[in-house]
Amino acid sequence: MGKVYIRTFGCQMNTYDSERIASIFNEMGFSYTENPEEADFAVINTCSVREKPQQKVKSEIGRLKRVNGIKIGVCGCVAQQEGEKFLDNFKDVSFVFGTDAIGRLYEIIDLVQKGQRVCDTSTNEGEISIPSFSRETSVSAFVTIMKGCDNFCSYCIVPYVRGREKSRKAEEIIREINYLVENGVREITLLGQNVNSYGKNLDENINFPKLLYMVNDIKEVKRIRFVTSHPKDFSDELIEAMIENEKVMPYLHLPLQAGSDNILKKMNRKYSYGEYLEKVAKAKERIPGLALSSDFIVGFPGETDADFEDTLRAIEEIEYETIFAFKYSPRPKTKAFNLEDNIPDDIKSSRLDALLKKQEKITRKLMKKYLGQICEVLVEGMSKKDDSIYSGRNPQNRIVNFKSNKNIKTGDLVSVKIMEAKKNSLFGLSV
Ligand code: 5AD
Ligand code: SF4
Repeated sequence: MGKVYIRTFGCQMNTYDSERIASIFNEMGFSYTENPEEADFAVINTCSVREKPQQKVKSEIGRLKRVNGIKIGVCGCVAQQEGEKFLDNFKDVSFVFGTDAIGRLYEIIDLVQKGQRVCDTSTNEGEISIPSFSRETSVSAFVTIMKGCDNFCSYCIVPYVRGREKSRKAEEIIREINYLVENGVREITLLGQNVNSYGKNLDENINFPKLLYMVNDIKEVKRIRFVTSHPKDFSDELIEAMIENEKVMPYLHLPLQAGSDNILKKMNRKYSYGEYLEKVAKAKERIPGLALSSDFIVGFPGETDADFEDTLRAIEEIEYETIFAFKYSPRPKTKAFNLEDNIPDDIKSSRLDALLKKQEKITRKLMKKYLGQICEVLVEGMSKKDDSIYSGRNPQNRIVNFKSNKNIKTGDLVSVKIMEAKKNSLFGLSV
């Protein structure tokens, strides 16, 4: 039996795609290996959202090509962007396939086994179809509902590499979720670059809130999460759906990107800080225990000290549980690429540090709020460090480690009293 090794960079959509790639290789008679040294095939699933992950591709190829007889494939966003050029520039790469070409991997693997070099970066428009596929079963699984983005934020390469928004039929999504729950999955995370646009390009009368009702009706599903929502499309209808569907968890990733209206405008985000704040205030008021998270970019072209201060003020005012922050990285083809990248790297770094330091304090404060509370934990297994301690997550997606003398199984929902708040996790006792 042949073996395949897969290295994944980037977002959750890439993780999902890699799981699907692994399953196709499996159907073609290959088993998965964590060790590239023993692999016959290696696939590098790439990310081009910033320059750094893009650079990692080269070093990964350099490392893998030393393995005797290995066939190297490159997929994901860099593959989509570079296409044939990749085969020309990297003699050690045997196949390149784009973000919409995973379904054609069967033929691609076949051709590569016959000694050919293959490139397939053709794209789909309007609707996507993904068959249900098996994966290493765990309690929690990703399910892609839409791909692509039509928003064209001025810094972002995603619309160029993932193409226009396209949705998957609801019926197909429900079929995949049913398949997953039959295999032990209890928590579903619905994925899309902009889940609020779900259904816009389908013939059926459906949108994202309606889809949440349908998933909520699946008996064996215990929890529903989703990423990512664009603030401009975050609607009252979605807030209602989050309240009415008890399985939708009180967690919302709503990327603000910057606190200054001036920068938001240059980023083409299509909302002001005030409008964002209004939506978040409403969501917090209506959804009990809501945890918020966000992405930020520091050092966007022209960002002044005062603009950056607005971002610091915003995280203090909104009190996110978690933030993901990045230094601005110019990306080819984007609108912002034409602006001068005029914030020196040391200033970008010091702004990033200041933002993360401030967030650390906010997170510490919010973690203390959980002390003494009883929360429901979806059990994922035993703690990696101590096999007498169970591990899972609370509704707000925080890791909770806990002790119990009950007979607890993976996938159970257990009530846990929180006794201790650590930096990034909670500790408690089952009640
Ligand atoms: N530079 C820095 N960060 C970026 N992101 C997207 N494009 C860029 C870029 N050119 C960040 C945004 C987005 C997250 C996935 O990556 O914050 O929400
Ligand atoms: Fe990129 Fe903006 Fe689309 Fe998000 S919404 S993928 S940041 S263009």
